[in-house]
Amino acid sequence: MGSKQKQKLWKGSWQLIFPETQNIGAGGQGVVRKVQRTRDGKTGALKELINFNNPERRKRMHIEATSLSVLDHPNIAHIIDENTTSEGQLYIITEFIDGPTLEEQISSCPFSLEEVLAFAERILDALHHAHSVGVFHRDIKPENIILRHASPADPVLVDFGISFNDEERLFSAATFMGQQLGNRFLHLPELQRGARDPRSDLTQFCGVALYTITQQQPISLKDEEGRMPHQQSTVREKLAEAIPNNIIRGKLLRLFDRAFQNDLTERWQTAKELASAFERMMFEPEVRGQTSLSAIRTELEGRPGFNQQMLMKRLYLEFMNETRQVLNEIRQELGEHIASVKQGGAHENVEESEFGSRFGITIPGDEVYLKLHGKVVGNELIMRIEEDDTLLARLDLNAPNWEPYQIGLEEEIGSRLSRKLQET
Ligand SMILES: Nc1ncnc2c1ncn2[C@@H]1O[C@H](COP(=O)(O)OP(=O)(O)OP(=O)(O)O)[C@@H](O)[C@H]1O
Ligand SMILES: [Mg+2]
Repeated sequence: MGSKQKQKLWKGSWQLIFPETQNIGAGGQGVVRKVQRTRDGKTGALKELINFNNPERRKRMHIEATSLSVLDHPNIAHIIDENTTSEGQLYIITEFIDGPTLEEQISSCPFSLEEVLAFAERILDALHHAHSVGVFHRDIKPENIILRHASPADPVLVDFGISFNDEERLFSAATFMGQQLGNRFLHLPELQRGARDPRSDLTQFCGVALYTITQQQPISLKDEEGRMPHQQSTVREKLAEAIPNNIIRGKLLRLFDRAFQNDLTERWQTAKELASAFERMMFEPEVRGQTSLSAIRTELEGRPGFNQQMLMKRLYLEFMNETRQVLNEIRQELGEHIASVKQGGAHENVEESEFGSRFGITIPGDEVYLKLHGKVVGNELIMRIEEDDTLLARLDLNAPNWEPYQIGLEEEIGSRLSRKLQET
């Protein structure tokens, strides 16, 4: 037996399932092969270093094992066996996850919105767990997520090869000079500076989520033209195709607006916070006031002295109500601590069947105000933005439905806010 054979510390307890040449994965640092435990037939994924004499790689592998050993979550591959401290060839064996990587799956078929939401729920729960025990992954990308039995709702995070944990704290950043943190899927400026921050995982994950819908790699927070990944035209088109509902798409775009900020303090701060933004995506639009004006009309008509003006006044109150709801939702999406809603300058001219108000949203250092204007013409209520005459909606007073107005307003404010945020 040669000395190299002796160094295979896992031999005895485990055997290779495939011939040695058949790897299930080969990354920059290691080679991964499927193995089976001799004692009970349990399958595992064996990871060994290619260059096992490199001291930095050896330290990294040890850190990977220590990260894995403090993690216990159904959507993170469990560690079963390891030897990352002794002399010779180091190894880690994790439970074998049967299924395609996210990369393999998405390159053939993107996720539907429902699939992304189920997927996000699981991965963000896994990240919440990892972060709560002080482990930051730092290399979230489609190759490092395996879909168990090809199910979008059962993704498993693998590869803690460049993760941060308390063990890494013992080493200076210079120890790992040769190794670039982060990944090519989405470059993060802070990782290039060696950051140890859970928020990088959240942004990388949002890049992955965007990829699952659009099949487009985000690559960087801004392209040469200063556009964020979700603002690029192909991506926008694919999003519009995959998510025709404007309200839901608007919310998703705002979620990405925040995810891809350069400044960490402007990003999603915790996995829980991001998870609830994904959760709220589908909530409504049916919970929104779908006040039936014909019901109001019937009620008002029963009152003594009913006239057209009474109806008009009521319509105006409804308009204020709907607008406030839309703005409050946007404010919640942005985070109540950074955005506030302003309202003022209400005017009504009942005789002319005209009414309007100023509404706005303020974010630090910026205000986005819209002067909204409504006018009843014949049987139609026409809603516009006064400054530039943008048409928000035309509503039929006999069969009124506020939804087109809400959608128009939400889209308009959303895009104006994005523009403002871009400028700053
Ligand atoms: N537990 C597992 N079950 C099944 N397959 C796995 C498992 N762990 C890893 N793999 C497969 O092996 C590939 C490489 O594993 P891993 O990412 O841990 O290695 P790596 O050398 O750090 O890779 P890279 O440098 O490319 O990130 C994965 O992309 C995946 O396809
Ligand atoms: Mg990998």
